[in-house]
Amino acid sequence: MSTPAFGLSKTKLSAESLAEFACDVRAGLRKPQKELHSKYLYDELGSALFEAITHLPEYGLTRADERLLCAHAAEIADLAGAPVSVIELGSGMGRKTRSILSALRPSNRELRYFPIDVSAEALARCERELADVADVHPRRQSYLDGLAGAAAERRPGEALLLLFLGSTIGNFERPCALEFLRDLRRWLKAGDALLVGADLVKDLGRMLVAYDDPTGVTAGFNLNLLGRINRELGANFELRNFEHLACWSERERRIEMHLRARSDQRVFIAACGLEVRFRAGETIWTESSHKFVPAEMFAMAAESGFQVEAQWVDQEWPFVESYWTAR
Ligand code: AVJ
Repeated sequence: MSTPAFGLSKTKLSAESLAEFACDVRAGLRKPQKELHSKYLYDELGSALFEAITHLPEYGLTRADERLLCAHAAEIADLAGAPVSVIELGSGMGRKTRSILSALRPSNRELRYFPIDVSAEALARCERELADVADVHPRRQSYLDGLAGAAAERRPGEALLLLFLGSTIGNFERPCALEFLRDLRRWLKAGDALLVGADLVKDLGRMLVAYDDPTGVTAGFNLNLLGRINRELGANFELRNFEHLACWSERERRIEMHLRARSDQRVFIAACGLEVRFRAGETIWTESSHKFVPAEMFAMAAESGFQVEAQWVDQEWPFVESYWTAR
């Protein structure tokens, strides 16, 4: 196995998840349309690059999410009531969550916050930065394992407020998003809340440049997936032989990110015992970011056992914050 570059060795996956990564990479690269799951974009370097993306002028999504949470934190806290514990799927550093926690605090002494993320570094920063507003219990787990664990810590009479922000829901194919929401519902009790952030369909030019910025940060974020496979699975991808591609699918209403082979080539992946051939122009599909219309949120809620209580839309960058309760 190759030595991880950039001092990233501490973040290497444990033996069993490394085997799973190898298995997923193998299966994905043997499909006619090669694909790699977008969750693997977020190793330590990938998470840092995503954080950089959120600062790009062309990528308004995260700032819209933050603006909405900030502007409506008091209403959200009122809806959530007390006593309540907060669980967040894919918290990252928890930068967006401060306003909600602060608004909940006056009515919730010893407020507990359970951030769930795959990045140890992001969780450590999250814990440091939010320790003054909540009792932080980080969980480095998958969403559903983390939710199961956090939900098990519910105190008698307490409600849960589950946060799924930043349009991460958009990474699921639409039928999978519904299935995932139903899975979440199973860990909740009637009256618990789910706050979902979803990016809305907007002008095509704005959507495209948000995923293909002139600074090249998104390209780096995408290409890092091949770098990660080199580091962790002992592959020999030549990153310069691939280029970043972002395109809009009108039928699926989503931005797709791909990595396109610039020439015919072969790549060997030691941990998969696999040689992969690429034709010039062939792509690896690495992410889908589905875009929504506000009305769609009502249907998704209804079909997964929730009811929409409130919804807020950002005017500057069309994005919706949708507050649901479990029926
Ligand atoms: C974190 C999944 C919401 O889809 O917009 C940003 C990830 N990909 N630029 C998104 C991402 C490319 C982002 N999400």
